Amino acid sequence: MNFFLETLMVLLMSIWYTLEALVYTFIPRRKKNISGEVVLITGAGSGIGRLMAQEFASHGTVLVLWDINQDGMKETAKLVKECGARKVHYYLCDCSDRNEVYRVAEQVKREVGDVSILVNNAGIVTGKKFMDAPDSLIEKTMEINTMAHFWTYKAFLPAMIANNHGHLVSIASSAGLVGVTGLADYCASKFGAVGFAESIGLEMLATGKDGIKTTLVCPFFINTGMFDGCQTKWPTIMPILKPEYAAKKILHAVLTDQTYLLMPKSMYFIVGLKNILPTKMGILLGWYMGAFNFMDKFIGRNQKQK
Ligand SMILES: NC(=O)c1ccc[n+]([C@@H]2O[C@H](COP(=O)([O-])OP(=O)(O)OC[C@H]3O[C@@H](n4cnc5c(N)ncnc54)[C@H](O)[C@@H]3O)[C@@H](O)[C@H]2O)c1
Repeated sequence: MNFFLETLMVLLMSIWYTLEALVYTFIPRRKKNISGEVVLITGAGSGIGRLMAQEFASHGTVLVLWDINQDGMKETAKLVKECGARKVHYYLCDCSDRNEVYRVAEQVKREVGDVSILVNNAGIVTGKKFMDAPDSLIEKTMEINTMAHFWTYKAFLPAMIANNHGHLVSIASSAGLVGVTGLADYCASKFGAVGFAESIGLEMLATGKDGIKTTLVCPFFINTGMFDGCQTKWPTIMPILKPEYAAKKILHAVLTDQTYLLMPKSMYFIVGLKNILPTKMGILLGWYMGAFNFMDKFIGRNQKQK
């Protein structure tokens, strides 16, 4: 170890990486070919899970769909066939149940083969202030939004490591980067998902498994029904995203091996500011952006169906 040489190397590499990032701002990155890859998507029975399945299908992949909603999955399966999926398989799987995740994962390995692109997308939201949220729903939120990621990685990562090939996609949330009033359990679960995905990505690099790529997705509200009723204060800066747009951006991020995807673009700036501003200014900014009131008119999916 030589302090002078190492520091010089880091400085030169930093300049190189900055220039590289600058160039790629103007020149589109090359997209990889995912035809024939086995893509497993949790929570594929509706929302962006379904739309991502359609996007992956149009690249000639084999789709494995997981959800607790059988009818939703059947509909997704029909749609992905129309979009050009090489094959589609769907399984009822409650991702909040570790044993069920392991059992269905074994079934997938037997019936389909090794999964090479894993998309952890299934998620729920309680939508209540912390003290009003039932313990059972808080636990369920953590089990689906965070713990399920642990169990699916445990099940499918070994084959990716053996082949030094694969892609781990985590659908987290901007609520996994910034705390939000009325979303304490959801934010905690998404912060957990972010920390987990980021750490595994680094672990793959540190152990020389650089053929396993990771994409961590942190969107603001998407108009799928999950956050029905929620509002944005400044739609120009922080628009509620269209599901089709979000799904296309996620696919593009996977095809170009993009590690972080924040949507809309203003989120990069907001997260950066949060980390450098004095606390009182950060809170003022949060108030200005409407973060204290995002959840005031929350209806959500379940309440609407009742
Ligand atoms: N909609 C948004 O505003 C928004 C914003 C940021 C992040 N996200 C995240 O995106 C992901 C997809 O959300 P969406 O908007 O498409 O919502 P959605 O409700 O349309 O889809 C979620 C899917 O997960 C399934 N699911 C729920 N519990 C499950 C379980 N125990 N096991 C297996 N599947 C289960 C549901 O049946 C549903 O099909 C979620 O992780 C969500 O937290 C959504």
